[in-house]
Amino acid sequence: MAYPGFFIVFEGGDGVGKSTQARLLAEWLRSDDGGARDVVETREPGGTELGREIREALQHGGHVEPRAEALLYAADRAHHVATVVRPALERGAVVVQDRYVDSSKVYQGLVRGLGDEIGRLSAWATEGLVPDLTIVLDAPVEARRLEGDPDRLERETGEKAGDLRQGFLDLASAEPGRYAVVDGRGAVGEVAAAVRTVVEAVLARGDG
Ligand code: TYD
Repeated sequence: MAYPGFFIVFEGGDGVGKSTQARLLAEWLRSDDGGARDVVETREPGGTELGREIREALQHGGHVEPRAEALLYAADRAHHVATVVRPALERGAVVVQDRYVDSSKVYQGLVRGLGDEIGRLSAWATEGLVPDLTIVLDAPVEARRLEGDPDRLERETGEKAGDLRQGFLDLASAEPGRYAVVDGRGAVGEVAAAVRTVVEAVLARGDG
């Protein structure tokens, strides 16, 4: 690793509880039990001011060409990694992030059919920054908890929820050393405990 920090990403389909689990993990890592660490909690899209404008553009009600959509996510990511994530990792913080490159690989690459080029686009956008640990929160499609009316993206990708789920699982099984798949179906506290167990083990290897 070229930096002293640690980069943790949550991935998974819509409604599996990523945002809640990211927040709980960040709270725990900041607590004495979790090592009283310097933690930066962030997300894509929308982890910067520019990113929040891009996020609004992405929620555009009308048609957005898949390549335009992919480039908007990549633009958000390039700016976010350079201005938030890398500086935090370089000062030694733990970055806990909701979604990253794998969301583009699965949503744009698989569901929108743009294929492997998406991986190359994201690698260019991030100058190759790869998470130290990716936690895939996995739940069957019928167990997802979707709130409110679906936005454009949820409407367009909702019927592919099964493909999305499988897409994340396939990425995890291709690189088991860098991924953990956590069952997202239990109560929030149970899932949070499972996440902590994984993170504790991985950080102990790094701290030791
Ligand atoms: P998210 O912020 O997780 O959803 P919510 O609005 O419910 O908090 O993600 C917004 C949407 O963007 C989600 O449907 C997944 C999609 N997405 C992509 O299609 N590609 C990407 O690269 C990323 C990061 C997100």
